[in-house]
Amino acid sequence: MKVLMINGSPHLKGSTFCALRDVGERLEAAGIETELMQIGSMDIRGCIACMKCAETGYCIFKDDPVNEGIDKLRAADGLVVGSPVYYAGPNAPVCAFLDRGFFLKSAPYAFKPAASVVSCRRGGASASFDRLNKYFTIARMPIVSSQYWNSVHGNNAEENRQDLEGAQTMRTLGDNMAWLLKCIEAGKQAGINPPAPEKWIATNFIR
Ligand SMILES: Cc1cc2nc3c(=O)[nH]c(=O)nc-3n(C[C@H](O)[C@H](O)[C@H](O)COP(=O)(O)O)c2cc1C
Repeated sequence: MKVLMINGSPHLKGSTFCALRDVGERLEAAGIETELMQIGSMDIRGCIACMKCAETGYCIFKDDPVNEGIDKLRAADGLVVGSPVYYAGPNAPVCAFLDRGFFLKSAPYAFKPAASVVSCRRGGASASFDRLNKYFTIARMPIVSSQYWNSVHGNNAEENRQDLEGAQTMRTLGDNMAWLLKCIEAGKQAGINPPAPEKWIATNFIR
């Protein structure tokens, strides 16, 4: 089993990375492989709502990591998205990556456990955490929880290491995700399959 981990911070070894590493180490200890995608310094465009992805399953922009991420997530069993908090929300690369990676193409992600982790200096963590979880709950992805909302405090790795409760929250998240992945696998072996989706009823309240 494999979990894809996305780091939206421009700092390769910053506080967000520390949080993801804490989660990943527990997954690896449970025999689950992890793969880290560092996207925080990349030039990732926003979605232009061209809708072409509805035909192809991929974004028309091929010069950034979004399509690679789509393939990696299709192949993975679980997802953890890490973002630094910028103005009380996930940062721009993370939002652009997820907008384009999820819009009209999230069906293959259904029933893959997902979690978000956020790092802030002081405030805006739970708003950012809520925002990220919205991608998962609209895509039928079970959200993995921890012992607290998944946030850490720190402007850098050194400060992050002082947030002992934050680190524990990350370790617990890793343990919980490993447990859920194994439960899902055991369920599959026992013939318990995910429910078949109903045909989507789309209503737009425009008048
Ligand atoms: C543009 C920008 C906006 C930020 N906004 C917030 C904020 O709203 N709340 C907060 O606590 N920290 C804020 N910060 C601080 C970062 O969240 C903090 O440095 C981050 O946790 C560092 O993670 P990293 O080392 O993985 O980059 C902001 C930083 C930048 C660069």
